[in-house]
Amino acid sequence: MNNTDLVFQSYGRCCRKDEFFVDFYQFFMASSDAIRNRFADTDMAAQRHLLRNGVMQIILVARGMSDRKLKDLGHSHNRHNYNIQPEWYGLWEESLLKTVQVHDPDYTPELRQAWREVLKPGIDLIRGAY
Ligand code: HEM
Repeated sequence: MNNTDLVFQSYGRCCRKDEFFVDFYQFFMASSDAIRNRFADTDMAAQRHLLRNGVMQIILVARGMSDRKLKDLGHSHNRHNYNIQPEWYGLWEESLLKTVQVHDPDYTPELRQAWREVLKPGIDLIRGAY
């Protein structure tokens, strides 16, 4: 199986429970006060659903699908809109990997590496639109 297949299946196991997204935002917001502040006025139940789809978009783009929706995310996150600092994406990725480790019963260090490689182009695209 290639990396995108491994990650696609891993994400399927993670998405079985909404706690995956609850835990992700807990890790992510705990990683910096600046990040916690960004979500102070956010409806987190809605945000968890949006993120579920956003991560799926990143995986689908790594599998060859159009990156149009990721470009839209790059636009909403750039300096003129949410103004998401480029250095925050490392915290985002670390939080996601930590959440996968907690939630995927088939987690291995190799799977972590596969996730990193699959996430990279999507994160680079969104961060690069800053
Ligand atoms: C909104 C995904 C990184 C903060 C959103 C939305 C999605 C999303 C799907 C909702 C759609 C939209 O408003 O455009 C992602 C993905 C990321 C990422 C896939 C990583 C590649 C970050 C980072 C931060 C952040 C690093 C830093 C704090 C926000 C905020 C909103 C948002 C503040 C708006 C929340 C609101 O409506 O109140 N993100 N995001 N995102 N994201 Fe991200």
